[in-house]
Amino acid sequence: MATNGSKTNGTTSRSRTGIKVIVVGAGFGGLGAAIECHRQGHNVEIYEAFPELKQLGDIISFGPNAGRIFYRWADGEIVRRMRPLSIDLTKYGFNIHKYDTGEIVINQPTPKYSVEAPNFNGHRGELHEVVFNYARDDLGIPRNRISTYFEDENESGIVLETGTKVSADVVIAADGVRSKARKTVLGYEDKPKSSGYAVWRAWFPNKDMIADPLTAQFCENGDTFNGWIGPDMHFLFSTIKNGSDCCWVLTHPDEHDIDESWSFPGKLSEVKEAIKDWDPMCTRIVSKTPEEMLVDWKLVYRDPLPTWVSPKARILLLGDSAHPFLPTSAQGATQALEDGVCIAVCLRRGGKENVPTSVRAHEKIRYERVRATQKTGESTRDMWHKTDWAKVKENPEIIQFPRQDWIFDFDTEKNAEEMYDGVVEGLSEV
Ligand SMILES: Cc1cc2nc3c(=O)[nH]c(=O)nc-3n(C[C@H](O)[C@H](O)[C@H](O)COP(=O)(O)OP(=O)(O)OC[C@H]3O[C@@H](n4cnc5c(N)ncnc54)[C@H](O)[C@@H]3O)c2cc1C
Ligand SMILES: *[C@@H]1O[C@H](CO)[C@@H](O)[C@H](O)[C@H]1NC(C)=O
Ligand SMILES: *[C@@H]1O[C@H](CO)[C@@H](O)[C@H](O)[C@H]1NC(C)=O
Repeated sequence: MATNGSKTNGTTSRSRTGIKVIVVGAGFGGLGAAIECHRQGHNVEIYEAFPELKQLGDIISFGPNAGRIFYRWADGEIVRRMRPLSIDLTKYGFNIHKYDTGEIVINQPTPKYSVEAPNFNGHRGELHEVVFNYARDDLGIPRNRISTYFEDENESGIVLETGTKVSADVVIAADGVRSKARKTVLGYEDKPKSSGYAVWRAWFPNKDMIADPLTAQFCENGDTFNGWIGPDMHFLFSTIKNGSDCCWVLTHPDEHDIDESWSFPGKLSEVKEAIKDWDPMCTRIVSKTPEEMLVDWKLVYRDPLPTWVSPKARILLLGDSAHPFLPTSAQGATQALEDGVCIAVCLRRGGKENVPTSVRAHEKIRYERVRATQKTGESTRDMWHKTDWAKVKENPEIIQFPRQDWIFDFDTEKNAEEMYDGVVEGLSEV
């Protein structure tokens, strides 16, 4: 690992802060936090349980508010690597269909974003690999499962499954929805709950789609994006990488109780049953899916945690461990990245002597924004699932995927820099 500020990471060399940061989890949240902490001059160690990178998942979205973060890494090189893996809808836009008739009620054009704030939609595994390799080459990622977390007023740390204890000034627990750190932080067990919905999701090559004259249109002229909106369900279908990869997700009600596992192999027959009254094009697309590529993914959700910060403020929950998002927000991974930027800035501003204050300031700066963004996942889902088609006929724009400027135009780094002093002042007054 680089121990001086000369390694660029897209920033001019900053002085080192001497703050040691342990990051648990190498998902987008943990990787982002580690890269940003390194950029801000802290000494970072990442720990991840997986023996190797898992190519799991299907489509994942990053808004321009994430693109702005990626763009600062390696002088734009990370963005250049992510671009060809990501969907290009500049020509096609997003066709929104009525679920039963199949008619296109509106074509939502794709907004142009600046070079400095691109957006990305691509295969989670492929995009993750780009970021994972970048972090690993710069920082190293030791493979280890964390069994417990600890802290006192002077330090915090982790105990590896091997029994080894590692301590630091602060631990960032980016260990996902099944976080082990959550109990240490909250003082009680808080298990994720079913959101009442599950998503069938699939990713597969275009071979059978191309062979059928009725579905070839989605693969022959570059990338496409179509959505069918119906009562309590929606079906989103995209083609990516110049139409060569196909991907769909079907969100549907599911009260299945989730315990340890929340991802199961899916059955095509169940999917077809669910959409039997829908536009036949949906079934046609589903029929092209190899069954082994189908996943039934239970959507985990929870009420907002009262806090993301441990009692001594040396352990911080970040990303999904603090706030799982619904896919209809398209902001889960993006908000995890924003978290990482903010904590890295706060730690630098506070310095080694004030780590707990910085951790608390981070929460104050982030909490309301994360909550508000999380809620858009519920409101978009409800808007789609309870569509009043008579109203849509009068004004088709109301069914478009909402694009809120307050989410997309946000520069987390700038915001954290601006807010830090005021927030710290507020903290000392309580
Ligand atoms: C396998 C997988 C597939 C996914 N697929 C999609 C998808 O297709 N589309 C989508 O929108 N979102 C998907 N997600 C969720 C999405 O990646 C996250 O919402 C988002 O990236 C925020 O990530 P995070 O870093 O907070 O959490 P996560 O991405 O869940 O990362 C948490 C990491 O912590 C590690 N970890 C957990 N416990 C320990 C421990 N005790 N010791 C060491 N390491 C530990 C895990 O191995 C994992 O790598 C997926 C997540 C996972 C894990
Ligand atoms: C924390 O550090 C202070 C000063 O070095 C010391 O007096 C105190 O005992 C330490 N606390 C713990 C729990 O080790
Ligand atoms: C995209 O695919 C089409 C055929 O489906 C092909 O003609 C075209 O050259 C491809 N474009 C690129 C950039 O690969």
